[in-house]
Amino acid sequence: MSLVINSLSKHFGEVTALNNISLEVPQGCFVCFLGPSGCGKTTLLRIIAGLEQPDNGEITLNNKNLSQTHASNRNFGVVFQSYSLFPNMTALTNVGYGLRCRRLPKPDIITRSKEMLALVQLQDQADKLPEQMSGGQQQRVALARALAPDPSLLLLDEPLSALDAKVREELRHEIRAIQQRLGVTTIMVTHDQEESLVMADLIVVMNEGKIEQTGTPKSLYEHPETTFVADFIGGMNLLPVRIENGAAYFGDTPVTLAEKTATQNGEGKIGVRPEALTLSAPTNDTAANHIPCEVKSITYLGNLTRVFVSPAAHPELKVTVELHGQSPVPSPGEHLALSFAPEALRLLT
Ligand SMILES: Nc1ncnc2c1ncn2[C@@H]1O[C@H](COP(=O)(O)OP(=O)(O)O)[C@@H](O)[C@H]1O
Ligand SMILES: [Mg+2]
Repeated sequence: MSLVINSLSKHFGEVTALNNISLEVPQGCFVCFLGPSGCGKTTLLRIIAGLEQPDNGEITLNNKNLSQTHASNRNFGVVFQSYSLFPNMTALTNVGYGLRCRRLPKPDIITRSKEMLALVQLQDQADKLPEQMSGGQQQRVALARALAPDPSLLLLDEPLSALDAKVREELRHEIRAIQQRLGVTTIMVTHDQEESLVMADLIVVMNEGKIEQTGTPKSLYEHPETTFVADFIGGMNLLPVRIENGAAYFGDTPVTLAEKTATQNGEGKIGVRPEALTLSAPTNDTAANHIPCEVKSITYLGNLTRVFVSPAAHPELKVTVELHGQSPVPSPGEHLALSFAPEALRLLT
């Protein structure tokens, strides 16, 4: 099974919700659509589900074009943010809904529904109505209902965002474990970068109706290609640099990069993660990769300490440094140098 999306666009009046989206979702993969509110995630998911029609482009499943296949015939399981269970049905009858639509024999429906409730650890809640269950339990029932007909694709739209932090964290791991056990190809929409890093095999970062970058959590964190991705996934310090004849300068400090160097002279931006920065004794202001700075404030977080500094060449910037373990912690007002390895720097567009 492979889902292929080709040049998909969608407008709502003046609003471009999706702008030329192309994407392949491999068999058995857990894919997250990640991006800020309004970037088009739900629209893309609804088009895949068949609940919305695109203006242009096509979707194929195993080389079969889905445009003529009605939502109810796609055999996709869908879970939305709001619990959306039938309020007058018990947990067990809710789970059996898709099986009744497919006119399975009644004993088979009951057996399968019980099996699915056990999968989400709610076998003892079979007779409860939605209003008698917690939010987390209701989302478990919704998941069991979506999985009961053995869908070829599971679509989840922010299924955890209405839940409180502790339940959300438990369910992240539980959904991921179930997905891996069943091997069901899954697409989940989220605006929560941590959720996507924890759960996904592949993250599709979206911004303003477009795909910014697609990759594994590790590759996006370590090799973001754009400022947007760098900033959205994990914390990233962005330092403005001048590019002159292939060399980069922050103020008067030469900055050595390990990866691609810019070919064009002009303004550029480098990204460096807070944990990749260290603070050292001040040097003269032209030592490569040593940026003179002043310590502004310090936040103690137990396992790590965040130090906020402002570089002498750009005092308006607030650069975050994360110190772990036993590293000595400086004091506000101290004049130090920010230093970093060339490998830790990303030249961003
Ligand atoms: N039915 C609709 N009618 C008009 N505008 C819509 C409709 N659905 C979505 N939009 C607009 O399309 C854009 C993308 O929305 P959506 O896909 O819901 O984003 P996300 O799920 O990433 O928050 C937004 O600007 C939104 O206001
Ligand atoms: Mg949405």
